[in-house]
Amino acid sequence: MRSTSRYTSLFVYFFDTKQAGEEQVRSMSQLVLGIESSCDETAAAVLRADGEAFELLSNVVSSQVDLHARYGGVVPELASRAHLQNGIPVLQEALDVAGVAGSDIDGIAVTMGPGLVGALLVGLQLAKSLAYVWGCKMIGVNHLEGHLQAVFLEEGEPPAYPFLALLVSGGNTTLYRVDGHTQITMLGSTRDDAAGEAFDKAAKMLGLPYPGGIYIDQLAQQGDPARFAFPRAMLHKGLDFSFSGLKTSCRTQLSKFDKKPEGQLLHDVCASYQEAIVDVLWHKAKKALQQEQCERLIVTGGVAANSRLRAAFTERAKEYGITTYFPSKTFCTDNAAMIAIAGYRHFQRGETSEFDINVKGRMPL
Ligand code: KG4
Repeated sequence: MRSTSRYTSLFVYFFDTKQAGEEQVRSMSQLVLGIESSCDETAAAVLRADGEAFELLSNVVSSQVDLHARYGGVVPELASRAHLQNGIPVLQEALDVAGVAGSDIDGIAVTMGPGLVGALLVGLQLAKSLAYVWGCKMIGVNHLEGHLQAVFLEEGEPPAYPFLALLVSGGNTTLYRVDGHTQITMLGSTRDDAAGEAFDKAAKMLGLPYPGGIYIDQLAQQGDPARFAFPRAMLHKGLDFSFSGLKTSCRTQLSKFDKKPEGQLLHDVCASYQEAIVDVLWHKAKKALQQEQCERLIVTGGVAANSRLRAAFTERAKEYGITTYFPSKTFCTDNAAMIAIAGYRHFQRGETSEFDINVKGRMPL
């Protein structure tokens, strides 16, 4: 179980919410419990929130990576069963690390979609039961909204609205214009595979463990990104993405070798493949920023943990006078702290969910 409780001091953010186009918000300290179970991470976090001041009291993530690794991908039924097994221990640890009792919790924010239906059901039912027993409010949160809010968990000046967000994860590659905490417009998305899938599928072909993005990232560090010319698809077609051709091109390239690449060859394949993904993501993000005349970009989701992506975006953005924001790696991958803060934004607006809400496997923003 991974527990992150490094936030012991109160860090404070202030900005003009009216300027941000949000409704006037109510200021009152609240303890929000976040619950996340949309895929293969069982997570719970306790966030103290007061206006724009946040203190993360606990952030516990139990990853199922080892369970699914031998199958080369997430097995939905196993994921649901593992959430069932881990839900209460993860919750208990989140409360213990935060030093709070269930009765102290003011509201519960829980992921209701998108994700694996069986996995989501476990988290949502846990949240409903707790809200019923503790007599507190509850809100069903869109997991993607959580990824967009993750950057607000960081210390330092948060991005001012409006900003653009590139959400790159195992299931999503989407560009959004964000005008306020809950005012989000989709600008473009992948037509086939997500960037994370492109990483994971190539990693599988290369015989690397699941999920492979992080292994490609590491191997690419000693590789030549110019050795193989992998395609950059749909560069001149709007703001949508396509990564399925890149995956096929990787398979074609690998079929030219008489065995799985090793040593320098493996480093070079990883670096060249990764560079193609980073180039496409940057090209589309830059295009969206120009189209929307926006100077701030947040990059979030599991793939935003990629070291080459972070370096390339930071360097290229400077040339165009764009400020980039990345959540720390802990908040890029799935976690419940981002769900807690996204739920809090809804509580600020007086929004809550009823006990009859259901999960949604598909749930675009
Ligand atoms: O956001 P996330 O934890 O889960 C969802 O998909 O919602 O993202 C997981 C994805 C996986 O595809 C994983 O391979 C990728 O993020 N990933 C990375 C890196 N770390 C995680 N991809 C490239 N480089 C990384 N360092």
